[in-house]
Amino acid sequence: MNFQWYPGHMTKARRAMEESIKLVDLVIELVDARIPVSSRNPDIDSLGRNKARMILLNKADLADEKMNAAWEAYFRAKGYEVVRLDARQKSGMKTVQAAIETACREKRERDRRRGILNRPVRAMVAGIPNVGKSTFINSFAGRAAAKTGNKPGVTKGNQWIKLNKNVELLDTPGILWPKFEDQQVGLRLAWIGSIKDDILQGEELAAELIGYLREEYPGILNARYQVEESGENFEILEEVARNRACVKKGNEPDCSRAAAMLLEDFRGGRLGRITLEKPGGDNAHEQ
Ligand code: G4P
Repeated sequence: MNFQWYPGHMTKARRAMEESIKLVDLVIELVDARIPVSSRNPDIDSLGRNKARMILLNKADLADEKMNAAWEAYFRAKGYEVVRLDARQKSGMKTVQAAIETACREKRERDRRRGILNRPVRAMVAGIPNVGKSTFINSFAGRAAAKTGNKPGVTKGNQWIKLNKNVELLDTPGILWPKFEDQQVGLRLAWIGSIKDDILQGEELAAELIGYLREEYPGILNARYQVEESGENFEILEEVARNRACVKKGNEPDCSRAAAMLLEDFRGGRLGRITLEKPGGDNAHEQ
């Protein structure tokens, strides 16, 4: 699923987010563990001012485990509760529950001092499209509670899903728009398939990915496609095409097909667990 954003969509999404966030104590923000910063919208920080905050590093199953740990530390140092997650698995939800309690400890204290006892925490899920918001709500709420269209600005009457006596969750996730005006961010979002490939040609996108992989994960392309990881990125793409019998008439390598295959292999985790940006490194798009 990818989504074309226009200024009107963003304004509507922002307005919807502003309305929803008023209703909650806690914002559970999902990011993609492969690009934890590029898949965030920093505006969430001003929108979520004065709220308890949590970050779920979702799709952690597709990301490099060492980098997951590094990103967890990075966000913890910024004061967030953090959970690494595969939202498709119900098994991670206990950890999320515990993290919610920690994130809301101050709020509960405040309530207690004011004599408010046993008021459930109200929470909402937020994130850019395709980070796994609906999947998470379904797993967490234990039923098909998140069948909300992914369209920004669509607000149904607010429904609260009672998770237990302590937590109520808004059934409609807040949709944030990605910050793809930044080219590096756009590139990473396109790599993971969250924005349309036509921003960059598929072949160019694949060649850029090849360049990143040979630098950061040497050997990974050789292991899957038996290619020499030397020469120009486009030459490696051609070799991928030849080795995978992606050929056009006249036995020319079909780089466009090879590019689509490589991107699909990456997105499906078939190249291995890969993270596309590092905290504090050259690749990080720091906020
Ligand atoms: P959204 O509401 O934020 O837009 O995202 P959504 O839940 O629709 O999830 C987008 C895609 O990401 C779905 O795949 C979903 O299965 C997948 N996904 C969500 N969480 C995880 C995770 O932790 N790990 C992995 N590997 N995948 C995850 P899809 O191909 O669009 O649909 P389908 O395969 O579920 O049919």
